[in-house]
Parts: sequence; structure tokens; C-alpha cells
Amino acid sequence: MDLSSKDMTGLRDITAAEIALILDTAVPMKGIIQRQIKKVPTLRGRTVVTVFYEASTRTRTSFELAAKYLSADTVGITAATSSVSKGESLKDTGRNIAAMGADAVILRHPMAGAAELLARTLGASVVNAGDGAHEHPSQALLDLFTAREKKGRLDGLKVAIIGDILHSRVARSDIWGYTKMGAEVRLAGPATLIPPGIEKMGARVCSSLEEALAGADVVNVLRIQTERQQQGLFPSMREYSRMYCINRDRLKLAAPDALLMHPGPMNRGIEISPDVADGLQAVINEQVTNGVAVRMALLYLLIGGSVK
Ligand code: CP
Repeated sequence: MDLSSKDMTGLRDITAAEIALILDTAVPMKGIIQRQIKKVPTLRGRTVVTVFYEASTRTRTSFELAAKYLSADTVGITAATSSVSKGESLKDTGRNIAAMGADAVILRHPMAGAAELLARTLGASVVNAGDGAHEHPSQALLDLFTAREKKGRLDGLKVAIIGDILHSRVARSDIWGYTKMGAEVRLAGPATLIPPGIEKMGARVCSSLEEALAGADVVNVLRIQTERQQQGLFPSMREYSRMYCINRDRLKLAAPDALLMHPGPMNRGIEISPDVADGLQAVINEQVTNGVAVRMALLYLLIGGSVK
């Protein structure tokens, strides 16, 4: 089985079978990154270009490492150091990168739909590394991979996603991914940070944090996007922390063996307390490791094998 598209722009339009294929492919990829020599020739002669119009630590580095571990050549472009700073458009930037022979373009952009737009313009594969508040599919895939690896299944899992759902592309991709794989998704956060109509995606909006956490198998804590605080969507960081910070007492409401996840970067003491972030239930560092394996799987499935 192959992926049906040359691109990975979001989880909304892919099937459960395709998600399972990516997760299954990531299993041997994880084996490669656990070896002393982390290099296989699978993508030799291929070129992967990362184009990041927003800051990133995890996503950009792990895509670049994923490409390198598969022997692809990699180049990284940021908005500040490219001709984007002179006003060049996204389409023109993409066309120029493709003209230089890129097989895959990994794009992070503040505008929802940017990856779709580029994917329609280019023959190369385009991977969405986060577009506005829309989707972040590779993050959701690594979340699913981590949950499946630890729990042995996704079907029937109770997944609580806590915090700033409104601005979270991770939440949207997680909802699509988990629900397609048969998990129950519960959402909780301040009412101003829950977008109206989000339950149409298949998630349940809970009226309290306690309701979302009750017996949950996975607790995924979202970053409070401090840069959006001036919009006054909640009274203060202190108030948010008092009401929604996942701490030891609140985590006890979840299943005893619940996994604690966070996509990073964390605001310790605001949405997650340091003791649980570094505690036994946290799988946050494993998420980061699994992110490399999942991104290797994505690159392999999109640009490995025959030339598209
Ligand atoms: N989770 C995530 O997207 O992290 P970065 O912004 O560091 O890539």
C-alpha cells in the first residue's frame, strides 16, 4: 500500500489505513535511530528542503535528522535569512526551491492553508510542518505513535486534550488522527479557548477539566500561547494556572497508568507543573524521539521508492 497523495498537508483528508501505514513504517525507522550508526541509504540522491517562516526547535531539527538518517541531502531556509525578507512570495520561494531539484519541501508558515497552496503549485512533495492554527500532522502522528507504542492500541483509548484548543494546530491534527483510529477525544479549557463547533470534528467538549481527565488513558497538555495573551482570552497566567495547570493532583483523576504528553515547548508552572512534566507518567522526551522515526517514515513513504 502507498499513500494516496504526494503531499502530507493534514490528517483531515487521509484514511485510517494510511495513518496505520505511517505508524507501522515508523517502527523499523525507530530501530534505525537506536543503532550506533544511524544511517541507511534509502533516500540517497534525494533532497529535502526545510522552509520555516516561524520558529521551531523540534519539528525542523527532527525533519532534518530524519532526512540525514535516510541519507537524503538537506538544506534549511528561514524567513529571516532568505529572500522572503525582501518580500518574495511563498509560491515564488517554493518554485525556486523546486527548480533547484528539491524532492520534498517541509513548510512551516503562519497562514492556515499555506502547505496546501504550495502543494498545488509544486511537483515536489510538500509536508506541512504547521500552518497557522490549522494542522500539524507530523506532530499528531508522533503523538499517535507514542500512544500506540505504550498502550498497544489506539482504538478505544480515552484521550484528553487540555488547554488552548483555539490556537492549536496540534489539537486539530490530533482530533482528526485519534478519532479516525477509534479513540475517544475529550477537550477541556477556558471557554474562550474552545472554538465553537469543534465537536463537529468528532471530539467531545467537556464542561470541566475533571470531566475530561476522568479515567483518561492519555493526557495531552497544550502550550499556552503566551504571544496571544494580549487578546485577553483569559484573565491572567496565574488564573489559567490555578484553573487548568496539570499537576500531580489533577493527573490522579486520569487512569493510574495514563500517559502525560506535551508537544513542546512547555511553559512549566503554567499549563504543566514541573513535577509531572519530569515524572514517571511523562512521555514527552519519547515523543521527541518518536518524532524523528515518524518523520523518517513520512519522507520514506512520500519520496522513497520510485520517482513521482
Ligand atoms: N511541537 C513543535 O512543533 O515544536 P517546535 O515548534 O519546536 O517545532
